Amino acid sequence: MTASKIPQHVAVIMDGNGRWAEQHGLPRIEGHRKGTQAVKRILKAAEDFGVKNITLFAFSVENWNRPKLEVAALMQLLESFLKEQKEQLVKREMRLRVLGRTSELPRSTQKQLRKTEQATQTFNNLTVGLALNYGSRTEVVDAVKAITLDAQEGLLDLNELDYEVFRQYLYTKEMPDPDLIIRTSGECRLSNFLLLQSAYSEIYLSDVLWPDFDKAEFGAALKAYASRERRFGKTAQQLTS
Ligand code: FPP
Repeated sequence: MTASKIPQHVAVIMDGNGRWAEQHGLPRIEGHRKGTQAVKRILKAAEDFGVKNITLFAFSVENWNRPKLEVAALMQLLESFLKEQKEQLVKREMRLRVLGRTSELPRSTQKQLRKTEQATQTFNNLTVGLALNYGSRTEVVDAVKAITLDAQEGLLDLNELDYEVFRQYLYTKEMPDPDLIIRTSGECRLSNFLLLQSAYSEIYLSDVLWPDFDKAEFGAALKAYASRERRFGKTAQQLTS
C-alpha cells in the first residue's frame, strides 16, 4: 500500500463485545475485557501501518442506560487500561485525546484521563482519540453553546462562521476528519458517532466481533479503503483530468 493511500485518520466503532461473551458462555464484561486486548492490538497495527490518527468509540452518551454493573466495570477497565498503558504511550510517542463530555465521567476516570493526556500532549507519532461519554448530537449542541458565548463576548464574528470555524468547536478540533470509519460485528449504522466529521468518510463494515478484530482485519479495512475512489462531490472525470 503506498503511503498516500493510508488513511490519515481511522475511526472505529468497536462493536460485538457482548455477543462475543455470549458465544463463549461468559458474562458480558469478559467480552469488554477481551475487547481491551483488541484495542492494544489495533493501536499497534495502526502504528505499524503508519496511520497518524485513530479514534475509538469506547462509551457513548447512550451507554449510561446499560446495567449499572456493566457501566462500572467498563469505567474500571478503562482506568486500568490507562494506568497500564501510560508508559507505553509515552515510550511509543502516542498522544491521547479524550472526546466527549468528560465532566460527567466518574472523578477517578477523569483524573486518569487528565494525567494520560498531560503526559502525552507533546507526541505525534499516533494520536489516539478516545470517544468517552461521546455523542455527535451532544457535541454539536456543546459547540453551538460555545459559539454563542464567544459571539456574545465579541470573540467571534458570526459573519465569519463557516465549517472551518465551526469544527474548531468540536471535540475533534485537533484531528483531521476521519477518512475511514470501521464498524465491527456486522452492524450497519453510525450510532451517533462523528456524524459531522464523517460527511466524506469511507465506511468499512466487518462481520468480525470486536474482541476477535486483529491486525489482518485492520489491514483488510485499509486495503479496501485504498481501492475506493473518493470524489468529494466531483465527477469521476473531473478527478482524472
Ligand atoms: C460495544 O459492544 C462496545 C462497547 C459499548 C464498549 C467498548 C469498550 C471496549 C472495547 C473496552 C474498553 C475500551 C478501551 C479503550 C480500553 P457491545 O457491548 O454493544 O456488544 P454487543 O452489541 O454484542 O452487545
